[in-house]
Amino acid sequence: MGIRSNVKTLTQVTHMQNFITLSQIDSAAQTIKNQIQIQPLVGIILGSGLNDLADSVQNAVRISYSDLPNFPVSTVHGHAGRFVIGMLEDKPVLVMQGRIHYYEGYTMGQVTLPVRVMQRLGISNMIVTNAAGGVHPDFEPGDVMLITDQLNLMGMSGLNPLMGPNLDEIGTRFPDMSQPYDRAYCDLARKVARDNGLTLREGIYAGLSGPSFESPADLRFLRNAGADAVGMSTVPEVIIARHGNMRVLGLSGISNKANLDGSTVTTHEEVIEAGKVITPKVEKIIRGVLRGLE
Ligand code: HPA
Repeated sequence: MGIRSNVKTLTQVTHMQNFITLSQIDSAAQTIKNQIQIQPLVGIILGSGLNDLADSVQNAVRISYSDLPNFPVSTVHGHAGRFVIGMLEDKPVLVMQGRIHYYEGYTMGQVTLPVRVMQRLGISNMIVTNAAGGVHPDFEPGDVMLITDQLNLMGMSGLNPLMGPNLDEIGTRFPDMSQPYDRAYCDLARKVARDNGLTLREGIYAGLSGPSFESPADLRFLRNAGADAVGMSTVPEVIIARHGNMRVLGLSGISNKANLDGSTVTTHEEVIEAGKVITPKVEKIIRGVLRGLE
């Protein structure tokens, strides 16, 4: 009996350690604050193959994730692993050049820690980008998709990043998700695309854990469930962002056509390669959106 209850306590303790605390978030935020002179207005997360965008930031202060307390480091090729803080279109921004993915073995708390840090730095807007497979039959590699909604498949299978003690200082226990992607920002992005002569696809992003790409049956399931694009990120970050009431704009770069009939092969190299076509389009939209923000 004694041994059994001890085991239970130990399990509980280990379990609780998986959750990031406010003081851990604040110590990373403070380390950043100490090195910057500006108050960032927008947090920008760059997806696979889109990291070059961070090189356009002016008067940049660069802080490696490895220099921040409690911070996970990105282990994926195509993800630099640092914050770049500076000016883009005369707006103060904090760019994540490289993101953390759940499939790297980190906890959901670690994956979303950068968004928590943004919140504690007083950032209330987020632009999130990713590389995704095009599930909608009309989508082609090189397309950019405005994310209008998301399918939280990771959360549906028990991996919601809000599980564990609620951070009451940031948001409510049961946050609303009726508008994960801000409608006014969607309108702004549509306008920017029109003004720049860019075709902007629109649709629903399904977030899976990866790292294996989807089987043809997975993809047919996703299509039937209403997904237009599929990827291995974004959804947890957006849930955390909305928990803290940030306004979110989401853009997917379609790097490959999802293989619904099993006739083609998907590779990470393809994803990185497509990023070269997608980056200038995403950059135009982000720059235009930043110009349009009050
Ligand atoms: N599936 C999942 N994630 C992805 C894909 C894909 O086809 N392409 C880029 N990221």
